[in-house]
Amino acid sequence: MGHAPLFARLRRRRQRSGGAVAWLALVAGTWLTLPSAAQDADAPLSAAPEAPAVSTLASDTPGTAALTGDSLVDRGRYLFDAALCAGCHTAEDGMALAGGRPIESPFGTFYTSNITPDADYGIGDWSDEDFVRALSEGISPAGKHYYPAFPYTSFTKLTREDMLAIKAYLGTVEPVAQPNRPHDLVWFAGWRWPLGIWKAIYFESGTLSPDASRSETWNRGAYLSEAAAHCAECHSPRDLLGGIKQSERYAGADDGIEGGGTPNITPDKETGIGAWTADMLAFYLEIGMEPDGDFAGGAMAHVIEQGTGRLSAADRAAIAEYILSLPPISR
Ligand code: HEC
Ligand code: HEC
Repeated sequence: MGHAPLFARLRRRRQRSGGAVAWLALVAGTWLTLPSAAQDADAPLSAAPEAPAVSTLASDTPGTAALTGDSLVDRGRYLFDAALCAGCHTAEDGMALAGGRPIESPFGTFYTSNITPDADYGIGDWSDEDFVRALSEGISPAGKHYYPAFPYTSFTKLTREDMLAIKAYLGTVEPVAQPNRPHDLVWFAGWRWPLGIWKAIYFESGTLSPDASRSETWNRGAYLSEAAAHCAECHSPRDLLGGIKQSERYAGADDGIEGGGTPNITPDKETGIGAWTADMLAFYLEIGMEPDGDFAGGAMAHVIEQGTGRLSAADRAAIAEYILSLPPISR
């Protein structure tokens, strides 16, 4: 097949990242028992589905919202899944979206916030402006900066309408009266004011402007990858202050935000996924099977189970088109 070096590389990489992302082990475990995954484990690559027609915007997965003709809440739910809000905002054994999930970082442990519509402990009394400001500027209703462990660095690229759709969906979930747990950070990271400086260096607020020289599907893929699914947040190396090294964006990280490494997903032939076709990548984003028949582990299993696996086939194809169009970076 001529792919032996790639497969060997994939396997080596798995050993490196295996088990590193402990908080997702449970999710990965359940996901691996899904019938579609089990059944296709030994299937040849030709079992990968044909690339869908671009016009197939409606979902092919039961329980997944279609993109057109839906209510605001359905649309919000779809984007909420794509953006993986639930995974970060739900603690193991905790109430859905009530926060408290620990996120380890070189600066200490962050605990996610309660984003249920509880008026006292959640975001039930937030205005539309409060919500849009949090996602697009990383600023709380009280005017404080958020830590970029909350990936508003990506969510800022969501359109205002899409942010408000997510808010509409969040308004329909069960309110939980659970106070937020304070972060447990090294002393110098405990202050929020230096985040203003951090943001001045690393953060640019604002939505993506469509690239007219590219196809509609490419632009859709760019939007989903950059604004919602925040692929680059995990797949890019960071500097000492935790900012993404833009020159190596998507080229993989030795330490991901959850402590494990992530592979280079630029289409570099040697060190990235340059040997993958768009079909292979879309298939991987659907059920997690790599071209060598191996399965995604760690944080990526969770991304697929909660996020990309719930998108429409057309949206997965759009993400694959975009990712494979990135400049190849050898890293
Ligand atoms: C990678 C993990 C992660 C993901 C994904 C994530 N968040 Fe968060 N979020 C956080 C963390 C950590 C904080 C706390 C930030 C702080 O205290 O500065 C936070 C804070 C928030 C807050 C502020 C709550 C408050 O009481 O001030 C809102 C609102 C929020 N997130 C909404 C969302 C939405 C909506 C999504 C999906 C579009 C999302 N988050 C996805 C980690 C995440
Ligand atoms: C929460 C962090 C996180 C996010 C967000 C994320 N990934 Fe990943 N990704 C990982 C990790 C960790 C791995 C390694 C998985 C493994 O060990 O099997 C991975 C593996 C991959 C691989 C396999 C590459 C290889 O060479 O084996 C691809 C392709 C990929 N991700 C694409 C994406 C795309 C596209 C997105 C956005 C839609 C995305 N990822 C979002 C963490 C993430």
